[in-house]
Amino acid sequence: MERSLSMEVVRVTEAAAIQSAKWMGRGDKIAADDAATTAMRTMFDTIPMHGTVVIGEGEMDEAPMLYIGEELGLRNGGPEVDIAVDPLEGTNIVAKGSNGALTVLAIADKGNLLNAPDMYMEKIAVGPEAAGMVDINASVTDNLKAVAKAKNKDVSDVVATLLDRERHTAIVEEIRAAGASIKFIQDGDVAAAINTAFDQTGVDIMFGIGGAPEGVISAAALKCLGGDFQGRLVPEDDEQRERCAKMGIDVNKVYQLEDLVKGDDAIFAATGVTDGGLLRGVQYKGEYCLTESVVMRAKSGTVRFVEGRHRLEKKPQYDK
Ligand code: FBP
Repeated sequence: MERSLSMEVVRVTEAAAIQSAKWMGRGDKIAADDAATTAMRTMFDTIPMHGTVVIGEGEMDEAPMLYIGEELGLRNGGPEVDIAVDPLEGTNIVAKGSNGALTVLAIADKGNLLNAPDMYMEKIAVGPEAAGMVDINASVTDNLKAVAKAKNKDVSDVVATLLDRERHTAIVEEIRAAGASIKFIQDGDVAAAINTAFDQTGVDIMFGIGGAPEGVISAAALKCLGGDFQGRLVPEDDEQRERCAKMGIDVNKVYQLEDLVKGDDAIFAATGVTDGGLLRGVQYKGEYCLTESVVMRAKSGTVRFVEGRHRLEKKPQYDK
């Protein structure tokens, strides 16, 4: 993949964030998601590439845009890539006007992103210092100890992050018994996974069950960051088990980072919609608005923070 695609895809997450941020606190998560999806879809088609959505808003019959299999980009001989999108990661966050919503996407060479079904995935994520030291099959306590050792601190100084869900009660009890702290999130486990790789966010490890598509996108980010991510599908009924079988997904397999995002390259981009641990949300300032994004590439390991100042009068597409 051309490295210039990194800057191109930031424009996509920026556009989605600018549009969906207008819905902050308005109690309408569907409108917020639609705004992000439409903006993402429009901006993708300005990029010199030939992309295919492998993780998107759903199957063709259930999503009008960014559906699985949709082809995106200028398609004029540019590189062929797989695309994973979550136009608005944290639809409820935006609807409620809370913290931590992002627009996110990942791209990789064609065939390199796992086509994960829309169901739950059990996950573990850590930043680069603890990469290779954790194991989703090990106990929560052992993983906390491994992170503490890797980061040269006591378990009591380790901060785990996870979605505040009843299904996580046993994990929460074990973290507390081990003496570590917890930063609960209400939604948005892509941000939580990425945050484990950034000291300033104050979290060391992410545990728990969240969306499988979000898992692949998180894995792409952690591949760029030199961190680690492992996941295992958690089908809830026979229908989901059958879907996994049809898609060639082994429900007993631990999917390692390399299984989720194959090859030596991937690009990940995210823009803050509402303020979060890593990125500020969109700020509307009348004539213009400000965005904060992160874009990273696995091949080079470069991580860029991009501040955008967007003159709204010159961007009629943002005022629709
Ligand atoms: P949406 O933006 O699609 O609402 O997803 C938010 C999210 O919190 C994800 O980050 C997470 O993976 C998933 O939902 C968790 O699902 P659930 O809310 O069912 O626990």
